[in-house]
Amino acid sequence: MSKKTFYITTPIYYPSDKLHIGHSYTTVAADTMARYKRMQGYDVMFLTGTDEHGQKIEEKAKQKGVTPKQYVDDMAVSIKELWKLLNISNDRFIRTTDPYHEESVQKIFKTLYDKGDIYKGVYKGKYCTPCESFWTESQLVDGKCPDCGRDVADAEEEAYFFRLSQYADRLLKLYEERPDFMEPQKRLNEMVNNFIKPGLEDLCVSRTSFTWGIPVDFDPGHVVYVWMDALNNYITALGYQNGQYDDFEKYWPADVHLVGKEIMRFHSIIWPAFLMALDLPLPKKVYGHGWLLLDGGKMSKSKGNVVDPVVLCDRYGVDAIRYFLLREIPFGSDGLFSNEALITRINSDLANDLGNLVSRTVSMVIKYFGGTLPSEREADALDETLISLAKETKAKAESYLDNLTFSNALTEIFKLVSRTNKYIDETAPWVLGKDETRKARLAAVLYNLCEAIRIIGILIEPFMPATAPKIFEQIGAPESVTDWESAGQWGLMPPSCTVQKGDSLFPRIDVAKELEELEKNKAAAQKEAQQPKKEEKPEGVAVITIDDFAKVSLIVAQIKECVMVPKSDKLYQLQVDDGTGIRQVVSGIAKWYRPEDLIGKKIVLVSNLKPVKLRGVMSNGMILAADASEDDVKVLFLDDSIPNGSNIH
Ligand code: MSP
Repeated sequence: MSKKTFYITTPIYYPSDKLHIGHSYTTVAADTMARYKRMQGYDVMFLTGTDEHGQKIEEKAKQKGVTPKQYVDDMAVSIKELWKLLNISNDRFIRTTDPYHEESVQKIFKTLYDKGDIYKGVYKGKYCTPCESFWTESQLVDGKCPDCGRDVADAEEEAYFFRLSQYADRLLKLYEERPDFMEPQKRLNEMVNNFIKPGLEDLCVSRTSFTWGIPVDFDPGHVVYVWMDALNNYITALGYQNGQYDDFEKYWPADVHLVGKEIMRFHSIIWPAFLMALDLPLPKKVYGHGWLLLDGGKMSKSKGNVVDPVVLCDRYGVDAIRYFLLREIPFGSDGLFSNEALITRINSDLANDLGNLVSRTVSMVIKYFGGTLPSEREADALDETLISLAKETKAKAESYLDNLTFSNALTEIFKLVSRTNKYIDETAPWVLGKDETRKARLAAVLYNLCEAIRIIGILIEPFMPATAPKIFEQIGAPESVTDWESAGQWGLMPPSCTVQKGDSLFPRIDVAKELEELEKNKAAAQKEAQQPKKEEKPEGVAVITIDDFAKVSLIVAQIKECVMVPKSDKLYQLQVDDGTGIRQVVSGIAKWYRPEDLIGKKIVLVSNLKPVKLRGVMSNGMILAADASEDDVKVLFLDDSIPNGSNIH
């Protein structure tokens, strides 16, 4: 008989090097679910990936002076590295620039067009001429262009639309017939009241004002607009309408799409409507989890180390971070992320309760029996509460995990951890150890401890995949008794198991010292950010003679071209006309000027500076600029009427 399948997805991530711990939340949750289902014996397909098209990405690449493809290639590598660090066990990784995905999306677009679900219309919006950007009313900031703050004008653009407005009734029927389609329940009310009841509008699915997208193959000039491209990843990654994979029949419909609450609308309204239009089965569930917030509000990488997943994993360990994310905040709700809360959880749950339980047990087996338990054991009625709780915990954890209530599942598992610790106090092995006649009783107590720990190890494995094997190694549990099913059975450890002392699973953190150090790091980072660079501001200014000054050749030059130096976010590579021809100069002014603010401008050039290579690019000269404030630099622009090459003295 073929195995039951389980298909789980995360959203595909925007390519960025600024992923923070909040981004890791969806992926860690999906990974835990995927591991759990695999352990239960399901044939799992766990999909994640990157959402690589669109105007924003086109612009970011331009700012960096690289092609959009180079940009997304770099970002996809760094996202894959982050998932590797977090021990994410995805079976597939889709990039929307993968040719097979592009091919499928083109076919889907054409099918919907032929069926009449997509039609050609006019997209009305606001246009910023200097930025060459289209904006919707809601994207404007105080009625102005969100990028440059300038006035925008009404504009129209030819575009294709998806007839979303025609799907309202079918969607309402879906929600009514399948109350568990969308979870948690509160999301359903949000979707119906905020979006469906006010009236669904047709959805723009193509654009002509930018080019970084999948071309609409039957209408050149149009590219597929983001959600029609991105959402389809969930089926193209299985091989729908392409020859890359052949898994569509096997895994579709998805068992669960995990998404953050802000993209619930796209997944619970637009995505089912697309699928209805394609006559495809709908996913079984869309789950919209809450947000991880910081004390001061929304999370962003600019908030520094506190939210950097790489720094956090390095400092506290991957499993501690995974545990915290899923334990601290009920999955459907928003919650605060803080170092204090993280450290408290690590110390109380992981170091004190779980870590100590394992190390005390292993130490006692070594101390009283040289590491190997004797098979002769004496049971006691006192053992029953522990045994029955241990046997029940698997079913409880399962029912919570099946509902994606990770935090409750962990609470149940850690109740068993606490109960096992309590069992040590109740049975007082150190007292039994002093009495030669109680050896069989002592052996039973220690065996029961190992047995409870084995069950705990299995149940935490989906959450903390690196910790579980360490636990099994320390208590000497053979692989044959660490599969998911065994977590519901008592007495599977070999009668004379041999333990092994290992490193502490979760070293206790000295809270005061740690917080002090974090504060120091923060202060140091702030200080460094504020401190002027030495070479920029020498102490005092040396006196020079007129001859010294005469050594410097300052001339007027005009900027002709400006692009980013590859792989740098500060440096521009400029071509300037110095009156005799074009020369190349590299200048660190990218933070303060856009290329279009510079091109055509006349500037002061130090023309006899020894050429240097900056980030692999030759620079012949230097552009003069003033430090207008600690974080603002102003280039010295000159009157347009001065001829290029004029001497300045
Ligand atoms: N590209 C779209 C999704 C397209 S799916 C067809 C997107 N990408 S994203 O990179 O912005 O977000 C990826 C995931 O990270 C989302 O599930 C989002 O909710 C999640 N999070 C980003 N910041 C978050 C927090 N601060 N807290 C919890 N999750 C958050 O949206």
